Amino acid sequence: MTRRCFVIGHPIAHSRSPLIHGTWLADHGLDGSYERIDVAPADLPAFITRLRAGEFVGGNVTVPHKQAAEALIDEVSEAARAIGAVNTLWREGGRLCGDNTDAAGFLGHLDATTPGWLDHVRTALVIGAGGAARAVVYALKSRGLDRIAVVNRNPARAAELVAAFGAPLQAMDWSARSALVGEADLIVNTTSLGMKGQPPLGLDLATLRPGTIVDDIVYVPLKTDLLVEAERRGAIAVDGLGMLLHQAVPGFARWFGVVPEVTPALRARLEVDIVGA
Ligand code: ATR
Repeated sequence: MTRRCFVIGHPIAHSRSPLIHGTWLADHGLDGSYERIDVAPADLPAFITRLRAGEFVGGNVTVPHKQAAEALIDEVSEAARAIGAVNTLWREGGRLCGDNTDAAGFLGHLDATTPGWLDHVRTALVIGAGGAARAVVYALKSRGLDRIAVVNRNPARAAELVAAFGAPLQAMDWSARSALVGEADLIVNTTSLGMKGQPPLGLDLATLRPGTIVDDIVYVPLKTDLLVEAERRGAIAVDGLGMLLHQAVPGFARWFGVVPEVTPALRARLEVDIVGA
């Protein structure tokens, strides 16, 4: 029987997840599907009932359902609980389980593109304090850094994030962000700044040390102004597309029982889609 999976959100037309999972399904010759389904917030409980009844084996959850879904399932992974959102659902022995794979995706991409990065990264600067920032600090904290400085335009949100995760996180002033650049071995932009249609991040990289890793989770455009400037100054640029690809791996593995690979060919397909957007 065809194993059906989904990505639900509202709106959902622009999700690139069907392209990722569709490619893997074809590559492995599996009898499965991955459908984009628009679910309005009021319809989420009814959709979850359909999932429980066996219509689907699982799927992804995106905006605006990532928090609401957590309350409707039976098992929430430690990562999802800490991050405060689920993005991957599956059924297991009559129970409905949820995980957040963004942290694993962030680390998976960093590990794949900059092997050994942890040998020279002790201090990180995380820009932003939203949902994506929570996944990134959860990931970084799990790798045991000495210091994770968090800056956010709205300082209350940075303080709340730091209070939730504790040491080695430190909330710093938004106005100090450029001054913190020279101290950081790893800089991560988790805000939407630099995305197509948004203002640039405008981080001053004058004190950036060559060899610093600069990771932007924005992937439209593929190379943001931040990454272009970072590379010009001898930093190692890590783009956001890899995180999107790697966060999809654990879900596919659960639904279809095959651990898929993030290959250059898959990446190239996504790049064509993004450049053409
Ligand atoms: P996500 O789940 O993608 O992280 P979010 O929770 O809405 O989305 O968080 C967006 C992040 O981008 C926040 O850190 C936000 O800063 P505020 O908390 O101050 O709003 C940041 N952001 C968005 N637009 C911004 C702007 N123009 N200047 C500075 N930060 C901005």
